[in-house]
This record gives sequence, structure tokens and C-alpha cells, in this order.
Amino acid sequence: MGLMDGKVVVITGAGGGIGRAEALLFAQEGARVVVNDLGVDRDGTGRSASPADRVVEEIRGLGGEAVANHDSVTTAEGAQAIVAAAVEAFGRIDTWINNAGILRDRTLLKLAEADWDAVLEVHLKGTFLCTQAAARQMIRQGEGGRIVNTTSISGMLGNFGQANYAAAKAGIYGLTRTAGIELQKHRITVNALAPIARTRMTEDLPMFHNNSSLTPEHVAPAALFLGSPLCGERTGYVLAVAGARMYAYKVVETEGKFKDNNQPWTAQEIADHWESIVRVRG
Ligand code: NAI
Repeated sequence: MGLMDGKVVVITGAGGGIGRAEALLFAQEGARVVVNDLGVDRDGTGRSASPADRVVEEIRGLGGEAVANHDSVTTAEGAQAIVAAAVEAFGRIDTWINNAGILRDRTLLKLAEADWDAVLEVHLKGTFLCTQAAARQMIRQGEGGRIVNTTSISGMLGNFGQANYAAAKAGIYGLTRTAGIELQKHRITVNALAPIARTRMTEDLPMFHNNSSLTPEHVAPAALFLGSPLCGERTGYVLAVAGARMYAYKVVETEGKFKDNNQPWTAQEIADHWESIVRVRG
């Protein structure tokens, strides 16, 4: 018995890296998998059918069921075509993983508008369009569903040289929280993953040299958990994984401080009471 027996999973950008590891694990757990990938280079240029096709072959070679899809997540037509491919091949969608991504790192002062747009388009707009298309299909089915988005430490905490990517990933956090609230009544959970793994996206960063435990295979079980019945009713969480470490990101609202007479604060008072305004208790 597999955790995902009888279930259908769509994974965007599953032709390599983290998405591929997720696709293999879901298939191993009995899911029928739609492997979506546009087959672009790390910066979003180019296009190839082979990454998605290769992962489908791998899954079939291991006795699993999968089909490839080569549409882009960046247009409503593309998102709809991925839904249609899943419904045509397997009749339904139970879990949707928004994983597709590109990188165009520049510091803020050097960031070209085109590099801002391209990164926001794939990560944030792609996640919006796919979440909307997937949720509509899940609501038509009437049995709930699970959506797993992919954010990043960059989006949650910020990172030098990644203004576009961090903004997109922080946007995915906000989208995840709001979609989680709105789709609760349809029994659709929406959570996000914040992975760290050595892939073509990160292999030139020093932290990944000589670190054999930061693999996509360490990340995949977190996606499986959030995309499986084991997730239960949990929604709006950001589950983070880096090698053997499993943790979570939470936005913290401090208790703050009330001004005695209910009057507006002055700027000087804010300066004077800064520590008690921002202090996290406990
Ligand atoms: P990757 O580059 O190996 O995988 C991304 C895949 O998305 C590629 O196969 C690419 O062809 C596909 N893709 C790009 N644009 C697409 C589009 N418009 N439509 C469909 N597919 C498209 O990179 P990796 O590392 O596996 O990244 C997967 C996700 O994890 C991304 O969202 C990334 O931002 C996120 N992430 C990765 C981290 C890491 O440490 N590797 C850290 C934090 C987040």
C-alpha cells in the first residue's frame, strides 16, 4: 500500500532538481504523476521537451504511472493545458505542486526591469495561475485537494542579490496564506515548502560544495507530507527542509505596547520605546 495510491499529482518544473525528486517519490508512493516542465535554462531561456520526458521514462521504468506536459506555467492557457493533460490522462487532480522556477540574480541597483518581470512571472504569476486552475478543478471534483507551493529562505528572510526572486517568493508566501484561508471551505489545503538543496539552481554557491546531505531527495518527503492525506487539515504553513533538518517559518506579530491615554504615538515616543514595541515574548 502506498501513501498516494489512487491519487493524481501534478508537479510543475518536475524535469529536474527538486521537482524530479518529488515526482519520483510520489510515483513510488502509488500516485499517478503529471510531470510538467518547459525545459528551460536556469535563467528561463530556451525550451526542451526532454527533461519532462526523461522523468516520465524514469518513473515508468520503475513501474510507476506518469505522463509528460510541456506547457508554461506563466499563462492562463498554459495552466489550463496542464490541468487538461491531467484530466485527460488520469481523470482528476488530487495534489498540485507549484515548483517551477528560474533565477536571474542581480543586486537591486543593477537589476534590469526584464529580469524583474521574468522572475516574477514564472514564480509568482505562475503560482497564482496554476493555483487558480488547480483549485477550480478540485472544486469541480468536490472532494477537496492539496496545493503545495514553493517559497524560499530568500522570500522569508531576504538575500543579497535576489531582489526579484525574494519578492516573488515572499509573494508566494502571501498567496499561500490567502489561498489557504479562501479554499478552506472547499477542503483544499494550501501550504508552502521552503527547500534548500543542491541543484543546477544552487550548485555554484559555496554552501553546497562538500555537502552531500543537501539533496533534492531530502526535500521530497516534505512535499509528499504536505501533498498527502498525512497533512490532514493543516493549511497556510511554510515547511522548511535543508538536508536532515526539518523546520518551519512563521511570521511573528509582537505583543507591542499600548500608549496609556489611547492617543496617537509620536515619532519620538516610538524611538524611545522601540525595544518594547519589537520584542518577541516567550
Ligand atoms: P531547477 O532549475 O532544477 O528546476 C526548476 C525547473 O522549473 C526546471 O526544470 C525548469 O525547466 C522548470 N521551469 C522553469 N520555468 C518554467 C515554466 N515557465 N513552466 C514550466 N516549467 C518551468 O531548480 P530547483 O532547485 O529544483 O528549484 C525548484 C524550486 O525550488 C524552484 O521554485 C526554486 O525557486 C525553489 N527553491 C530551490 C532552492 C534550492 O536550494 N535548490 C531553494 C529555495 C527554493
